[in-house]
Amino acid sequence: MFNQIHAICPRGTRSAQPLPLQTGIRAPRRLPTRQERRMKQRRAQIRKAIIRSFLSILIKIFLYLCRPTTRAMLYGKLIKPLLFSLPPEQAHHIVTITLSLLGKIPGGRWLLHKLYAVDHPALEREVLGIRFRNPVGMAAGFDRYGHIYRELSAMGFGFVEVGSITPKRQPGNPKPRIFRIESARALLNRVGICSHGLDRAVAHLRQPHGTAIVGCNIGKNTATSCEQGPADYLKCFRNLYQYADYFTVNVACDPGQKAPSYQTRENITRILEPLFEFRRGQNQYRPILLKVSPDLPDETIDTMTDILMETPLDGMVAVNATASKAGIDRLDATRLGAGVVSGEPLTRRALEVVRRIHERSHGAYPIIGVGGLMSPDDVLAMLDAGASLVQIYTGYVYNGPGYLRTICRALIERAAAEHPDKK
Ligand SMILES: Cc1cc2nc3c(=O)[nH]c(=O)nc-3n(C[C@H](O)[C@H](O)[C@H](O)COP(=O)(O)O)c2cc1C
Repeated sequence: MFNQIHAICPRGTRSAQPLPLQTGIRAPRRLPTRQERRMKQRRAQIRKAIIRSFLSILIKIFLYLCRPTTRAMLYGKLIKPLLFSLPPEQAHHIVTITLSLLGKIPGGRWLLHKLYAVDHPALEREVLGIRFRNPVGMAAGFDRYGHIYRELSAMGFGFVEVGSITPKRQPGNPKPRIFRIESARALLNRVGICSHGLDRAVAHLRQPHGTAIVGCNIGKNTATSCEQGPADYLKCFRNLYQYADYFTVNVACDPGQKAPSYQTRENITRILEPLFEFRRGQNQYRPILLKVSPDLPDETIDTMTDILMETPLDGMVAVNATASKAGIDRLDATRLGAGVVSGEPLTRRALEVVRRIHERSHGAYPIIGVGGLMSPDDVLAMLDAGASLVQIYTGYVYNGPGYLRTICRALIERAAAEHPDKK
């Protein structure tokens, strides 16, 4: 061995460092001097101190962010202006991507829950045979494809309605197709139905739901004729049956269907009957609800309510966005063109429709109240009008993620005032 080393480094020119030996036998290691040991200890102490202060900064930031006032301030002063400087669909895309990424990080959903959710026994509801952690859901159209329902649920939504889902993929109308009308606290959209199709929806919805309650909002493809429409609904219903907690049949969303004239007793029955028939053969029961348009005349709303009372339909979702431009500046309406309006201009009509269904059906059927719920007072009014559950969309866009918390707090306060003994 030493001969080998000598061959490489002739006597007198041997390097101070021993050369690596080829035989696998290690050269004896030099013991570190006391000074080196002290240096090593010092370095370890510095490393620990850095990690400790980094963690404590992180915890302080987390606790600071946990304060609802801080988050409201951050949202109002920074995030909302940023998001509102972008076109609505792009802003929505950023929000959904962020949520979906957070959902993929270990602890991401836990963090969302800690930051936004409110859990309280006074919020719990039993409706449609399902236990809801609170009565506030995310309306259809926000999680169109079904890829962020677990994150929305972690943020505190009592339930999430995914869709509308159609059998085949369809892109919806050309962009731009969603517009903010800030003066009216409204959105105008002409998306139609934008769906990735049934297979993609199933791929998302077959993931374990955790504690999320998921409704599937089903529709027909725009290219499908009205005569063939019932087959589209049945296909979605059948394939999604095991993945949904309830279903909403959306006949009101596709402008191509000239909604009000399509929503006759005959057409609705043709869509619903095959769904009831399929459900009869299943072991598990899935409630079916019908979503109505606010643009239907009151007599047609009554006809829908009669369908609710005369068939195995379980409840109503009232209402979809409106084609009416009342409450919107005429210049805005002309500038933005065709589309349906959601948000504040819809509040009064949504309440009217829910009250009408509730009274006609003697309060015996669940109604999900949706449309223009822009403040906790609107939500309370909707529940007073007869809704068992509510959904929000435009109110969430304008008020931000803390809105759900504000609503839940108002509901808890109301419950405490009504039952002071049950604190
Ligand atoms: C951009 C956008 C897309 C929507 N897409 C759907 C949809 O695909 N299916 C559906 O049933 N409702 C859809 N809706 C209607 C909402 O679910 C809700 O009924 C309506 O917006 C009224 O509630 P809001 O005033 O709280 O927004 C959509 C609404 C918006 C703003």
